[in-house]
Amino acid sequence: MPHVLIVDEDRVSGHSLREAAREAGLSCVMVTSIRQASLQITLQRPDIIFTAQHLSDGSGLSLLDIRGESGKITLITMMAEPSADAVIDAWRLGATDYLTKPLDLHRVRRWLHSLPLAATQASGHKSSPDLLGTSVAMQTLSEHISRVAPTEATVLLLGESGTGKELVAQTIHAQSSRHRQPFIPINCGAISPQLIESEIFGHEKGSFTGADRQHKGYFERACGGTLFLDEVIEMPVDLQVKLLRVLETGAFMRIGSHQSLSTDVRIIAATNRDPESAIAEGRLRLDLFHRLNVFPLRIPPLRDRQQDIALLARHFLNELNAAHGTAKTLSDSAVGVLGRHQWPGNVRELRNFIHRAYILSDQMIDTQMLEPVPTYCRASALTLSIPVGTSLADVDRKLIFATMALCGGVKKHAADLLGISLKTLYNRLEEYGRHEKTLAVLQTPTQRIPVLNKQGDRLKVAKGIFSSM
Ligand SMILES: Nc1ncnc2c1ncn2[C@@H]1O[C@H](COP(=O)(O)OP(=O)(O)OP(=O)(O)O)[C@@H](O)[C@H]1O
Ligand SMILES: [Mg+2]
Repeated sequence: MPHVLIVDEDRVSGHSLREAAREAGLSCVMVTSIRQASLQITLQRPDIIFTAQHLSDGSGLSLLDIRGESGKITLITMMAEPSADAVIDAWRLGATDYLTKPLDLHRVRRWLHSLPLAATQASGHKSSPDLLGTSVAMQTLSEHISRVAPTEATVLLLGESGTGKELVAQTIHAQSSRHRQPFIPINCGAISPQLIESEIFGHEKGSFTGADRQHKGYFERACGGTLFLDEVIEMPVDLQVKLLRVLETGAFMRIGSHQSLSTDVRIIAATNRDPESAIAEGRLRLDLFHRLNVFPLRIPPLRDRQQDIALLARHFLNELNAAHGTAKTLSDSAVGVLGRHQWPGNVRELRNFIHRAYILSDQMIDTQMLEPVPTYCRASALTLSIPVGTSLADVDRKLIFATMALCGGVKKHAADLLGISLKTLYNRLEEYGRHEKTLAVLQTPTQRIPVLNKQGDRLKVAKGIFSSM
């Protein structure tokens, strides 16, 4: 990815330049000293350097020496009052061009857009994902997204599992000036606690057993873009301290290194838990919460926006029709049934449900395909029969799959029913394969239709037998 390094103590011009570089589709890091710039040149190999002429610890043109054998780096120097001598000196030393301060941003943009690098990047631009919903709650959410997206504010997404937190995070990224840079989601609950620090900050070769080469962490890979910290409350508390430090200083170190690297990422965090209880239980640090909670956005559960159910159901069916060249339809009465369901697994559960109904239907998805609905909730349908001789590992796997389906894919409920931590559940699901596959495995003839509990049903598991109360 084409990469720009800005070296300037004047933060105002540095920031304008950074915005212009991003608009042109370039990733960008800004530092304020020659020392930090030298590190960046060694570690990140920028394609273009914009540097002030004079910095407290040396001349910007001295970076031409550090650039060394990588003569391909383009260096542009920025001067407050360029004398003819200074300009000639810069050229003689190898600078490609110079800009006069205060910066003429039109000129900067023209210059950046003329770069062949920028043109190739621009073609990789990903369009905004579709966040559907006509309910008042979704309209308000969209309005808030469009206001916060262009800013650099950290966003905290709160909402039950399957409500669309990741989709909202992608939408914010897509509507921001960082949209041509990476959007990197990290599921903090799914990475093993042994690896999470290295995954986030990276490591140097030989920094621990098995680290046989240098590894760039998420902060480095997301440079110039957005880092989505999903299930942030599942992050180990000691790592939360380190994360807070990075968010406050903009600097971090790879494991096994003492070199500080600067980072330029926008943070969006999400959780399906209640942050206040997590703070009370000591699972979330209050200081990190305050740092993340700059712009909280609550995504309402699907049951509170029934108006959106028909729209979403039809949208998911259209997607399937388009993918398979079919023209299946959804009857109005089926839409009515869907609208009355509580959808504990929210939009994800609805999507999976439509997928299964699509597979089972010939032309029209009608109420008889949805009813008798709560087959899962009858004790007989909720019993796992496991032949003697099955391995314990297999029993675990079957029980986890069945509980996930019973809970409509809501991992938190499933973990509670199974009596294991959410983290353990994530680790197991990782082992067994992706969640979607999990549900597919469950499509035995008696369990084709997913959970459609009657409103208010409470479900419990006793010794591996599911029953409804
Ligand atoms: N408003 C929406 N419009 C269209 N699709 C949606 C919407 N909300 C959610 N979806 C779809 O529902 C599924 C679940 O959404 P997503 O993964 O964003 O939920 P989540 O809140 O991150 O869930 P979890 O907490 O389990 O990680 C995805 O397939 C997503 O595309
Ligand atoms: Mg998610």
